[in-house]
Amino acid sequence: MTEQENRKASNHWRSSIGFIAAAAGSAVGLGNIWKFPYITGQNGGGTFVLFYLLCIVILGLPIMVAEVMIGRTTQSSPVRAFQRLSAPNSGWQVVGMLGVFAGILILSFYSIVAGWGLHYLFLSIVGGFPQGNNPQAYTDLFDSLVQSVRLNIWWHSLFMGITIVVVLRGIRGGIEKFANWGMLALLILLGGLAVYGATLPGFLPAVKFLFAFSDNFTWKSALEALGHAFFSLSLGIGVMLTYGSYLQRHDDVVGTSIAIAIADTIVAIGACLVLFPIAFSVGLEPSAGPGLIFINIPLALLQLPWGRIGLLVFFVLLLLAALTSAVSLLEMAVSFLIDSLGWSRTLAASTMGGFIYLLGIPSALSGGSGFFGAGLKQLIGMSWFDAADYLSSNWLLPLGGIGISLFIGWRLNPQLRTLEFQDGSRLGSKSGLYSGWLLVVRWLSPIVIVLVMLYNLGFF
Ligand code: PFF
Repeated sequence: MTEQENRKASNHWRSSIGFIAAAAGSAVGLGNIWKFPYITGQNGGGTFVLFYLLCIVILGLPIMVAEVMIGRTTQSSPVRAFQRLSAPNSGWQVVGMLGVFAGILILSFYSIVAGWGLHYLFLSIVGGFPQGNNPQAYTDLFDSLVQSVRLNIWWHSLFMGITIVVVLRGIRGGIEKFANWGMLALLILLGGLAVYGATLPGFLPAVKFLFAFSDNFTWKSALEALGHAFFSLSLGIGVMLTYGSYLQRHDDVVGTSIAIAIADTIVAIGACLVLFPIAFSVGLEPSAGPGLIFINIPLALLQLPWGRIGLLVFFVLLLLAALTSAVSLLEMAVSFLIDSLGWSRTLAASTMGGFIYLLGIPSALSGGSGFFGAGLKQLIGMSWFDAADYLSSNWLLPLGGIGISLFIGWRLNPQLRTLEFQDGSRLGSKSGLYSGWLLVVRWLSPIVIVLVMLYNLGFF
């Protein structure tokens, strides 16, 4: 690859902090603040957390390095990147296409959950929550939101609208700027909420729950931890590859990937340290499932001192996290259109954003009694929303992870691979680290992911 093939300056991050903020912004999302706390709660705490951390370090981090590295080397969007490193018509480009498809699908339902967050932020501002300790009223409130076509579509429109505007403004003026401010605000708000959590009576039981060994841990928990590590680090679909393609040719890949994984983990654990003390303080268990942040947390917080402000801060935090992730998903799909079809950013972002918006509408209708909700549940056992989530999280992300691992481990020119791993990174020049990484991408990650998929098919 020649230097002329490098992208224009405006298509690069202004600084490596900007890249870390944007990529950490992609990783930190609803997965950290909504899903990680509730699956930790359901899987018994400590042992699950430890296993999750191992998955991040041993499997997630090496694949992140691989993705960012392919991006930096090719300076291209996912599909073009695989073409450039193999051949224009090579079958490997399917890995990139699969990623683009998965990204589009994920954003279409991600926006619906983020929309619930917008609605709860609105309720926190106007004070629209039920009075007193009345769990049923909070459950009804959430159920009626999930079932409401009008509210779901309205908040979905607003969330997608903001996401499209950020992506329209480009890498430096849109995504990087938004991520720098957004992540700074997110860390401050999370820190504030963690201090608040530490003053609550439920803090010590929460810490114990989070870090003590538990006996609820099963095989299923292990697989859930692995799948979630992938989702949480935004791996397997070319988002990190796309963000890596906006790095300069000699920027550090290994060091920045480590920083991103650390930031993602801190926020996931931090979210538990905020949510669990709140739940424990009013005698609620953290194993409430997906409704944890929409039912138990408002119910609990509004009974505690400063609760209303705490709730407002929490939903602002949730939305910042969701937006920076949504932006990364849209950017990946947009960069594919710009790179492969030669479209302008304005055309690509508005067309792709509009398409994903439309694709999200069946998800917005999934809580209702019509075809996409109750109808499909009767036909295939899940609503459109559940099916989109199931297909992308359980199949498309892991398949993409295998594709990227195999490509880097077996197809990429070995000399180029060594060179690119070391380029610009002090850590990357340690030969032991390189051999360990190669072992993971060649063997460990494909084997483990195949085992997970076989398990999902009911083989063991
Ligand atoms: N990592 C995001 C989260 O934890 O919410 C979700 C996500 C974003 C997944 C981007 C995949 C992706 F490509």
